[in-house]
Amino acid sequence: MAVQERTQVGIIGAGPAGLLLARLLKLHGIDSVILEARDRDYVEARVRAGVLEQGTVDLLEEAGVAERLHREGLVHDGVEIAANGRRLRIDFRELTGKTVTVYGQTEVTRDLIAARLAGDGPIVWEAADVAIHDIESARPYLRYRVAGLERELVCDYIAGCDGFHGVSRPALPESVGQTFERTYAFGWLGILADVPPCSEELIYASHPRGFALASMRSPTRSRYYIQCGLDEKIEEWPDERLWDELKLRLGSDTAPDITTGPSIEKSIAPLRSFVSTPMQHGRLFLAGDAAHIVPPTGAKGLNLAASDVHYLARALAAHYSKGNDDLLRAYSDTALARVWKAERFSWWMTMLLHRLHPEASFEAQMQRAELDYLASSRAAQTVLAENYVGLPF
Ligand code: APR
Ligand code: PHB
Repeated sequence: MAVQERTQVGIIGAGPAGLLLARLLKLHGIDSVILEARDRDYVEARVRAGVLEQGTVDLLEEAGVAERLHREGLVHDGVEIAANGRRLRIDFRELTGKTVTVYGQTEVTRDLIAARLAGDGPIVWEAADVAIHDIESARPYLRYRVAGLERELVCDYIAGCDGFHGVSRPALPESVGQTFERTYAFGWLGILADVPPCSEELIYASHPRGFALASMRSPTRSRYYIQCGLDEKIEEWPDERLWDELKLRLGSDTAPDITTGPSIEKSIAPLRSFVSTPMQHGRLFLAGDAAHIVPPTGAKGLNLAASDVHYLARALAAHYSKGNDDLLRAYSDTALARVWKAERFSWWMTMLLHRLHPEASFEAQMQRAELDYLASSRAAQTVLAENYVGLPF
């Protein structure tokens, strides 16, 4: 017989979506248990993107986990787009009155884990074979194994925050769902190094050799990416070759400011746009990467996880405090309305900045014209800025 426990909300996944949801629920007096497949060290070491929209910062503040973020995060008033031999600055503050904060997702995750373990409730690390049952009933439950023991967690609601490869999305009956997907014929090769960044702000570069991005984690830690082929291997990119390529693609203005050094992390990731609808069935609610993926151009992944769990926590709070389920019923539509706009922006920015077509093609001319237009039009720059700093939620 499995050991049986009970909670109000069973959360699958201790990524940013699951952890932030648990924290927001706690502030509303709602209990949860988080089941995480990996161990704590693994989750705390994962390297991911690092740009927080102002709305995400506000939400982390509301959640009481923004102290270190305010101390160590870097507030950026704009970004640069390097293309056709020039650098164009998009001034967020001037165009929208808003800013973004550069603070690694790794750090956000650590802060959320620390808050959770300081008394909010359990995280079951290394929960194996999590299986979702009876989501169409009023008493759904999760079955899992930990340290070889079978356990059952009976819940009022289940939150599927287990990322793209989790078990939650497949638990929605196929007949109710639809998926939308776009894959790209290239990936991003990323490098993390303990060297000062080459510029105070991020630089997104469109170059005939392919896209490049200069980003950072702190005044002493840089994060760079280049567009690469999907069949390329990390071993083909020793640090020196990667630094040389970055210098070429970021351009001769920037190259002298690039400090090189040994990589502390290097990886290749494919790019994907993906949305699964609806984001809810019965008592199972999906949030974050479990329901949608964006390509990293524009850094929307974590920010979308934040808006999802904001909507979900608010809806669960209305249920428990007022017995009102209107927001729960509207959750999928509410979340998806924002998701689709971020999907559009991430796709647009990806298509604008990557090398997709031969130099002499019509499509390459269209890209060039769009970049030219961006450089010459305040309206076009405002569109980019408004989306980059994040649409309201
Ligand atoms: N059982 C339990 N936990 C699981 C399972 C499972 N079957 N499958 C996956 N998980 C865990 C993963 O180990 C991970 O810790 O769920 C968590 C999902 O976290 P993320 O992948 O970080 O997804 P999410 O919380 O939605 O965060 C979205 O993270 O991946 C980035 O680009 C993404 O920035 C975005 C943000
Ligand atoms: C990052 O710093 O990892 C980063 C920044 C901006 C992006 C994507 C990734 O658009």
